[in-house]
Amino acid sequence: PLPEPFTLPFRVPPVLRPRRSDEHADFYDIDQTVADAAIIPGVRTPIWGYQGMFPGPTIESRRGRAAMVTHTNRLPVPTVVHLHGGRTPHDSDGYPTDFVYPVDRSFMDEHAGAGGMHGSVMMGDTSDGERVYSYPLEQRAAMLWYHDHRMDFTGPAVWRGLAGMHIVRDETEDALGLPSGERELPLMITDRSFAADGSLLYPNVDPTLLVKPGVTDAFIAGVLGDVMLVNGTPWPQARVARASYRLRVLNACNARRLDLRLEARPAPQLVQIGTDGGLLASPIAHDHFELAPAQRLDALVDFSGYPPGTTVTLLNDFGDGNMSQIMRFMVEDREAEPYAIPDTLSTVEPLLARDAVARRTFRFRSGDVDHRKGWLIDGRPFRPNDIAAAVELGTVEVWRLVADFHHPVHIHLNPFQVLSRGIGGPGPFDAGWKDTIDLRPSEEAEIAIRFDGYRGKYVFHCHNLEHEDMAMMANFTTR
Ligand code: C2O
Ligand code: CU
Repeated sequence: PLPEPFTLPFRVPPVLRPRRSDEHADFYDIDQTVADAAIIPGVRTPIWGYQGMFPGPTIESRRGRAAMVTHTNRLPVPTVVHLHGGRTPHDSDGYPTDFVYPVDRSFMDEHAGAGGMHGSVMMGDTSDGERVYSYPLEQRAAMLWYHDHRMDFTGPAVWRGLAGMHIVRDETEDALGLPSGERELPLMITDRSFAADGSLLYPNVDPTLLVKPGVTDAFIAGVLGDVMLVNGTPWPQARVARASYRLRVLNACNARRLDLRLEARPAPQLVQIGTDGGLLASPIAHDHFELAPAQRLDALVDFSGYPPGTTVTLLNDFGDGNMSQIMRFMVEDREAEPYAIPDTLSTVEPLLARDAVARRTFRFRSGDVDHRKGWLIDGRPFRPNDIAAAVELGTVEVWRLVADFHHPVHIHLNPFQVLSRGIGGPGPFDAGWKDTIDLRPSEEAEIAIRFDGYRGKYVFHCHNLEHEDMAMMANFTTR
């Protein structure tokens, strides 16, 4: 029995406390475990959770202070952790074959012996039971997120719960005095489907999630759920003061694109202050905002003009029926200091096409993978030893991305700027530093990337997680 929308209280995932901190770093421990979650009232939902929670605990870091996160895998299958949006050395970036094997390997050994995953996948840099991921976080303030990234099985692993938020803060952000504490709300939006007994439904072809990637044919375009969750609660209601709030929205759906809009009379605007890669140069007011999987929206919403008792609904105009609603805000009889949004938020130095040392084109299209329908980049399925681009650190490149269908394309290591879509300039939701671009059917876009940071091998891929698992991923190397 699904709850009626807006009957369950909104909750925020707990912030993870470091095990210890020193002058330069905070040290964290995360256990990846099977757990029972209370998502739908009256039933228990088995999940795979970071610290047994869905979403996982939020990590909060300061720019330039490293986070050293020890992940212990107490799940039945191998895992890989990627910090999405992180400027991270290769060996901590969660390369898709850098498996962390389970502490207890019995399930894996029983179901994926010699001919299974060991035989079919080229091994990366694996670890037994646990791995320390080290994140320098030498990057601007932004909302990052961490999630599973195992080759061929990211979709089902994230669906089962392996996703959490990681917020980076810095002085530029501090200086703005943005709404904070109770008035800064992280919103991890995920759609999921449930069986009558409360368990999560996902159409994986291989029940062990060890050998055969992909989903049944009906879901080849991506898996959509029929329950909308915010921070793991179906259609929650948040009580808010008559004040400005900072909403930090993450579309963590496997495949669902969102078109966010606030409904009330008069309708409040979403005043965008940031995107995937942190603060914009200046705020942009939107009546609605399209957010593809993996993208983030940092927006201010002013509830101060509404009488107590007003409800403001966050809608998804791309959805039908219940999936057209996300959550609701109930304005209470409380006030807080008004917040005046500054005209200038941060410095975003534009990347210029004329500075590019290389131009490359990548085509994101469907095609055959091992005699099954899959998704390819330039006609090739993901193979760990196949390098699509070798780039020089310290240079700018322009990449032209061409799509046959909706493909939210994500590039690891460095953020980019959208130069154009089709023959026009960037779209209304493309401002600032992006790490994921929402490509639409038959669309092509040009992006500029400044490669910097760390040498090694990284991936770029479609962030429709079913497309990613069905091979729409490629490697680039930095040197
Ligand atoms: Cu959010 Cu390569 O992933
Ligand atoms: Cu795709």
